[in-house]
Amino acid sequence: MRARLGQLELPNPVLAAAGCAGAGRELAQFIDVARVGAVISKSIMTEPRTGNPAPRLAETPSGLLNSVGLQGPGIDAFLQRDLPWLLSHGARAVVSIAGQTVREYGTLAARLSDAAGVSAVEINLSCPNAEEAGRLFALDPATAGSVVAAVRASLRHDIPVFAKLSPDVTDIVAVAEACVGAGADGLSLINVVLGMAIDPGTMRPALAGAYGGLSGPAIRPVAVRCVWQVAEAFPGVPIIGTGGVRTGRDALELLLAGASLIGVGTAIVHDPSACSRVVRELEEELAAIGADQVADVIGQAHGAHGRLARGLARRA
Ligand SMILES: Cc1cc2nc3c(=O)[nH]c(=O)nc-3n(C[C@H](O)[C@H](O)[C@H](O)COP(=O)(O)O)c2cc1C
Repeated sequence: MRARLGQLELPNPVLAAAGCAGAGRELAQFIDVARVGAVISKSIMTEPRTGNPAPRLAETPSGLLNSVGLQGPGIDAFLQRDLPWLLSHGARAVVSIAGQTVREYGTLAARLSDAAGVSAVEINLSCPNAEEAGRLFALDPATAGSVVAAVRASLRHDIPVFAKLSPDVTDIVAVAEACVGAGADGLSLINVVLGMAIDPGTMRPALAGAYGGLSGPAIRPVAVRCVWQVAEAFPGVPIIGTGGVRTGRDALELLLAGASLIGVGTAIVHDPSACSRVVRELEEELAAIGADQVADVIGQAHGAHGRLARGLARRA
């Protein structure tokens, strides 16, 4: 079940996705955080923030809508309190960062460079760009690329950078290309899908902010499609595949599409031990198909003639 995150070897490929396990502490009463492949923190900004007004969660038949926003303690408190806690419990910490300007992302990267024990940085690009009337960085390849370049320029070279992409674009491969071109070591996909629910009882939007991000089983086919397209275009670029993973079989599907690591998000909200369970189930799934290791299944759905399969064969 071993997997790689940059130069680091992980015990398994299953990661707690950003925002669904806080800074990891919240999981500890249910599971041993050292046994999760890695914990991706809630996205951290430079300053503490309270997030969006309530209600900010709404359930749908097969997913969750959230408009929690970027609630968090800010980088100082994260570095003083949360990161040391994760490390002292033997967890591997992937730090998700979020900014309102390209400069803020660079500042966060510089702060993380000075910290010990950061296994990787995940750049949350689904944040409103204050300099472009709140348009999300993730929606434009050039803007997304400029964020990645700013992070790469300020971050220690031995810390890998994953750019987390939004599925709410016409051409996710173009955004992926800009991020890889700007120095991303890997990609993380997908973030939530923009959605909305209206409460017929009140005849008003269910969320205070009207729109929110849809996550959970409903978005898994979107995640599989995005991972497939990006893996096909960039064989060899590591992908954290996230979106609607609830079982080991779901994780296997994203690995087959080309992800090499798996993020579990919404499933944690109703089953805090979901990461450990998915690891167990994935192990059973791999055994059932006769795969000796996770690497045996990565990208296998692309077939012998796909670009991904050819790229993997060349590297073998
Ligand atoms: C309540 C909630 C908070 C989230 N917060 C963040 C966040 O801070 N940063 C981020 O990059 N993604 C965040 N996400 C997105 C998840 O990390 C994940 O990409 C998405 O939910 C899809 O995976 P899932 O279907 O397994 O939840 C959040 C998702 C949820 C449900």
